[in-house]
Amino acid sequence: MTQALKIAVLASGRGSNLAALIEAHAAGQLPVEFTLVASDKADAGALQLAETARIPTLALLPRNYADRASYDRELFARIAASGAELLVLAGFMRIIDGTVLAPWAGRIINIHPSLLPKYRGLHTHRRALEAGDAEHGASVHFVTAELDGGPVIAQAKLPVLPDDDEHTLASRLLPLEHRLLPAVTGLIASHRLSLGANGIELDRQLLAQPLLLGEDTLAA
Ligand code: GAR
Repeated sequence: MTQALKIAVLASGRGSNLAALIEAHAAGQLPVEFTLVASDKADAGALQLAETARIPTLALLPRNYADRASYDRELFARIAASGAELLVLAGFMRIIDGTVLAPWAGRIINIHPSLLPKYRGLHTHRRALEAGDAEHGASVHFVTAELDGGPVIAQAKLPVLPDDDEHTLASRLLPLEHRLLPAVTGLIASHRLSLGANGIELDRQLLAQPLLLGEDTLAA
């Protein structure tokens, strides 16, 4: 049995992806220990979910800091102090200052609701519909200083239906996100997947393309 990987989670909103991580852990499917759930919003649903699960929480409000760099310095100091080895961004809606990210290279992942490199940033569902895409999806990637630009680990795809609007597309994608994020976190926690000098390695082999939910490694 591998030792539990210590993880912290950052979330700005309702926290359904955090809930998926907590549920996978409770079901014995995720070898992690949650050290902290932090948010930039005092009323984030994610903080309540964490409290219910008896995970330490932190609400750190940007308005109390002079600038992005000082906010991010404090946030990342608190994350490091929690003992976290991996940081999971689960709906964290702030851009993070590159200088605080550097020591965490290969130890931060983010879930983003698009098939990266398509649609970095906001309004991803709307943009996929406007482009007339036949498929849409979500990506989990390692975080770098480039917004939504780090190496993509895995994706979940779904077809865009003729009647889809932003909301139907988002709501059909969300359950896939809830499988994707715990699955990728599990691969990292069990030391099967990491970011090496030449790219992402799975079972010590360079990954040629992102893993796909539903196929082989992410079959569950
Ligand atoms: C998720 O759809 C996630 O992919 C997205 O925010 C939502 C959070 O939902 N993340 C981003 O847009 C990051 N740029 P949740 O709070 O219910 O997990």
